Amino acid sequence: MSLYRLLRPLFFRLDPEWIHRFTLSAVGAAGRVPPVRSLLRGLFAADDPRLRVEAGGLAFPNPVGLAAGFDKNGVAMEGLAAAGFGFVEVGSVSAYPSAGNPERPRLFRVPKDEAIVVNYGVPNDGAEAVAQRFASTKLPVPLGINLVETNTGRPADADEVVEELVGAMQPFLGLADYATLNLNCPNTTSGRSPFDDPVILRSLLAGYARYDAMPPTFLKVVPTTDPGTIERTLATMDPFPFVKGIVFGLPTGKPYANLQTPRRQLDAMPGTLCGPPVRELIDASIKAWYPRMDHGRHVIVGTGGISTAEDVYEKIRLGATIVQLYTSLVYHGPGLVKRINRGLCRLMSRDGLTRVSDAVGLDNPHPNPRSHPNPRSHPNPRPHPRRAVDA
Ligand SMILES: Cc1cc2nc3c(=O)[nH]c(=O)nc-3n(C[C@H](O)[C@H](O)[C@H](O)COP(=O)(O)O)c2cc1C
Repeated sequence: MSLYRLLRPLFFRLDPEWIHRFTLSAVGAAGRVPPVRSLLRGLFAADDPRLRVEAGGLAFPNPVGLAAGFDKNGVAMEGLAAAGFGFVEVGSVSAYPSAGNPERPRLFRVPKDEAIVVNYGVPNDGAEAVAQRFASTKLPVPLGINLVETNTGRPADADEVVEELVGAMQPFLGLADYATLNLNCPNTTSGRSPFDDPVILRSLLAGYARYDAMPPTFLKVVPTTDPGTIERTLATMDPFPFVKGIVFGLPTGKPYANLQTPRRQLDAMPGTLCGPPVRELIDASIKAWYPRMDHGRHVIVGTGGISTAEDVYEKIRLGATIVQLYTSLVYHGPGLVKRINRGLCRLMSRDGLTRVSDAVGLDNPHPNPRSHPNPRSHPNPRPHPRRAVDA
C-alpha cells in the first residue's frame, strides 16, 4: 500500500479547500529547491521514449498532463512538472483577479464515486500576476495557460467577454507554450456561455489571430455528441491556424446515472461533478468528434475520469492524442502519473505498438471528410522551447 493511501483518511478529515491550498504550497516550495526537484523526478517521473508524443506542434515527454484547476495561479509549476506530468496547465486565469464564488464550502469530496463537486467559481490572481510567475519559471515540459472570463457575479455582455478574454492572453505571449480557452466554464456566475454562438466564437478567435505570437491553442468545449454542434464548432475554428484542437470541459450539472452516492447527498453539494462519473460522456464525445476532424491540423486532448492506464489508453484509442487529469490525484496521490505511464507502456507492448501516437484513434475508424494526406505528422513540429532547461 502506498504512503498516500495510508495518509488519505487523515487528509479526508480536513477541509478540501484548505488541503488543496496546503498541497499547492508544499509542492510549490519543494519545486523551488533543485535537489528536491531532482528527487521528485526520480520518484515520480517515467521516462520512456515510447511515451513521447507530438501535439499541436509541441513535443511532450509523455501524454499525461495536469488539468486546469489544480494550480490556478501558477504557484507550484516546477514541483508539478517534477511529479512526472508530460505537461502542466495553469488556470483558469481571467483578465482581472477574482475571489470566485462567495459561498462556502465550494469543494466537496464524493468518495463513493471517487469524484469531486467543484463550485470554486474560478478564483484567481488575474492574468498580469500569473504571467509574472510564468516569466520567472522554466519547465522541462510544455506549460499551458487556461483562460476564462472574469467571474463578476453578473452576466456579461458578449462583446465585453470577447475583449476581456483576448486581452487576458497578452501578458502570456512568448511565455506560455500553449493556451486553452475555457469557453464553457459552468462555474462562472452567469452560468451560460456566449461562445455557443458561432458568430461570437469567430469574433473571439479573430481577436487572438491579431497576435503574431499566439501559441498553439485548444478550445475547451462542453462534451457533446451532437453532429450539428460538432460540425459548427469545427467550421468556426477552421480558418484559424493557431487553433490546434479540442478539450472537453465538464457537463453542467451532475450525471446521476450509475452513481453510488445517493442523489440527495449530491443535491446538497452545489457545483459541477468531476472524475469517473463524467468519463462515459466525454469518451462518447471523443468518439463522435474524432472522425470529423482533420487529423493533420487538430488533435483531441482527452480529459474526464482518468484513474488508470486503461482509462488513458481507451481515450487515446478513441482519438485523443494527449490527456489530462485532476480528480484522481486526490484519491490516488502523486504516484499515479508514473503508474499510468508505466501501464501505458505495458499496454502498448501487449498490442505490439512502439509509440503511443500509433494508438491514436485505433478503435475509431474514420471515413474522414476532412482527412489529411499524412494524418499523423505535423507540417512543422516545434521543438519544445523549454526542453533544455534543468528540471
Ligand atoms: C477542483 C477543480 C477545479 C477545476 N477548475 C478548473 C478551472 O479553473 N478551469 C478549467 O478549465 N477546468 C477546471 N476543472 C476541470 C478540470 O480541468 C478537468 O477538465 C475535469 O476535472 C475533468 O478531469 P478529471 O475527471 O480528471 O478531474 C476543475 C476541476 C476540479 C476538480
